Amino acid sequence: MGQIANGIPFFELSNNTKIPSVGLGTWQSDPGLVGDAVAAAIKIGYRHIDCAQIYGNEKEIGLVLKKLFQDGVVKREDLWITSKLWCTDHAPEDVPVALDKTLNDLELEYLDLYLIHWPVRMKKGSVGFKPENLMPADIPSTWKAMEKLYDSGKARAIGVSNFSTKKLGDLLDVARIPPAVNQVECHPSWKQTKLRDFCKIKGVHLSGYSPLGSPGTSFMKSDVLKHPVLAEVAEKLGKTPAQVALRWGLQMGHSILPKSTSESRIKENFDIFDWSIPEDIFAKISDIEQARLLRGTNFVDETHGQYKNIEELWDGEL
Ligand code: A2P
Repeated sequence: MGQIANGIPFFELSNNTKIPSVGLGTWQSDPGLVGDAVAAAIKIGYRHIDCAQIYGNEKEIGLVLKKLFQDGVVKREDLWITSKLWCTDHAPEDVPVALDKTLNDLELEYLDLYLIHWPVRMKKGSVGFKPENLMPADIPSTWKAMEKLYDSGKARAIGVSNFSTKKLGDLLDVARIPPAVNQVECHPSWKQTKLRDFCKIKGVHLSGYSPLGSPGTSFMKSDVLKHPVLAEVAEKLGKTPAQVALRWGLQMGHSILPKSTSESRIKENFDIFDWSIPEDIFAKISDIEQARLLRGTNFVDETHGQYKNIEELWDGEL
């Protein structure tokens, strides 16, 4: 973990920008709730909000950010806002249009970080996850368009999400501006050991989504927070299993993006800086059995798109 800025430890990215170590996740934060969650988080001290166009809630987040700036609660330059390019906008000419839409919705002039959401392309304008929407991907040409956004200053850092070690390596081989971040599923039951080591060698920051294992997501069948080791450690340290999972992430050296729309849990998830998991207990957590929860089955198909099966999507990292 890095130094403290605005009261929060941060990690320094390869382009010398500083990403706060904890960000509020907004995937599955319903319109109507997400605005209040963002406002509560920023008042509690969060300085990093993780967004995406596909989450369908950027307009509401934009309204709240504008009000927080107007009321002097926080300054734009003290926030870190991430968003992501959806799969339907991978054509190079669509990339700047998609960023402009996100900036317009968020009512911002620039993003701190813009990510290619998946190494998956879908037909422009298509809606939903039908196999016939899938198309072959061309990551190098999409990345060139991302690099132009970086050059323009509208995205102060650029990166990817859901890239396997191999896909990240292939991109690093052709990139003029290397991806600063790979945002991937990461929690005690999916540690990303191979990808983590590769990212470290290459200077790519790993950012962990679903740091609690997304317990509310029915199709992910998560019981990360119910794991007996987490329960035992939580009891020993006088913390909650969620806090232990999050603190584990910080001590592993990656940023974490816990989602919540409950003010008390948003607070609980931020109360992880002034204590740590002792080494012997930490080792126990590292022994938890591993399983990828978000498998991406919607992005693979025998006849359409780039990947015939999930082994191809993740290059065997399952
Ligand atoms: P809620 O929004 O009602 O708080 P992840 O960040 O891994 O995707 O997990 C998000 C899920 O975890 C949401 O269902 C969220 O529900 C729940 N959650 C968030 N914080 C906590 C917490 N501290 N303890 C238990 N569940 C939590």
